[in-house]
Amino acid sequence: MFPLRRNRRLRTNESIRSLVRETVLSPNDFLVPLFVVEGKGVKEEIPSMPNYFRYSLDLLEQEVKELWAMGLKSVLVFVKVPDNLKDNKGTEALNANGLMQRAVKTIKNAVPEMIVMTDVALDPYSSFGHDGIIGHGQILNDETSAVLAQMALSHAQAGADFVAPSDMMDGRILEMRETLENNGFFNTGIMSYSAKYASAHYGPFRDALNSAPVDMQEVPKDKKTYQMDYHNRTEAVRETRMDIEEGADIVMVKPGIAYLDIVREIKNMSEVPVAVYQVSGEYAMIKAAAERGWLDHDAIMLEQTTAIKRAGADIIASYFAKDIVKLLK
Ligand code: PBG
Repeated sequence: MFPLRRNRRLRTNESIRSLVRETVLSPNDFLVPLFVVEGKGVKEEIPSMPNYFRYSLDLLEQEVKELWAMGLKSVLVFVKVPDNLKDNKGTEALNANGLMQRAVKTIKNAVPEMIVMTDVALDPYSSFGHDGIIGHGQILNDETSAVLAQMALSHAQAGADFVAPSDMMDGRILEMRETLENNGFFNTGIMSYSAKYASAHYGPFRDALNSAPVDMQEVPKDKKTYQMDYHNRTEAVRETRMDIEEGADIVMVKPGIAYLDIVREIKNMSEVPVAVYQVSGEYAMIKAAAERGWLDHDAIMLEQTTAIKRAGADIIASYFAKDIVKLLK
């Protein structure tokens, strides 16, 4: 007797393995998050995100040219807002000459073909570090949604190709879509953070933007009244279906590696492309373990990112994008 089937035949060597390989990473998969700060000549490393930087606009220009030359064709922009410009309503978010609006113009000027997506949420602008306006002991939904729609419009006016609401207010996609259409921005897309969980994986990002929620009496320090409860799966399907109905062009699951069951579920139900955000905490865990020599940095990075694509990601927002594209060469 011999084994009924010798599956190992297809694993004999790298040539046959690559011939039957089902999932392969490509530069086309990646969306590159960018952190932008005020100033000139600034390229500062984020302490909890080794080898990841905040750029001032002049250096941002070089960075996006480099990304484009490497074959990376889309960026997701976040700004670090000076404390003195923060308030409860995120007033600065609507400044037509604000840092985000200037960043969009800078990138589009440097590389017109680069797809520019902008983060739409109040947390970097909020003196309380929340994604919405605080009032009556709550994060106010409809009031916040109205501001977010104006914020999206302002980004579109600056030249953003896509706006990416990451706030998790109810009904904001419809309100944003309507506002964009009514102002003639019918080609500006919406990538919705549809299934965004209240996760402990966002810590380093909040360091990067100095945007962590502050201690206060009125509302809890966490984001659990708007971001999703990680014990739930069906809820992700409902959130995503509603965002698609409201007009989202791309939906997103976030975080990545601990949520691959959700990624597959969403990929199976969604008729629009699915993005997955491999978030700051995932990046930091790999960096920290590799620094200690406990894990092989490149191997673990490729394995986890490929797993995200295998689970169903059409787009991967990742701080590893440059590192991976270099390795793929
Ligand atoms: C803010 C926002 C967050 C991230 C993207 N947009 C943080 C948060 O919700 O607190 C996290 C990204 C990351 O951790 O890499 N709306």
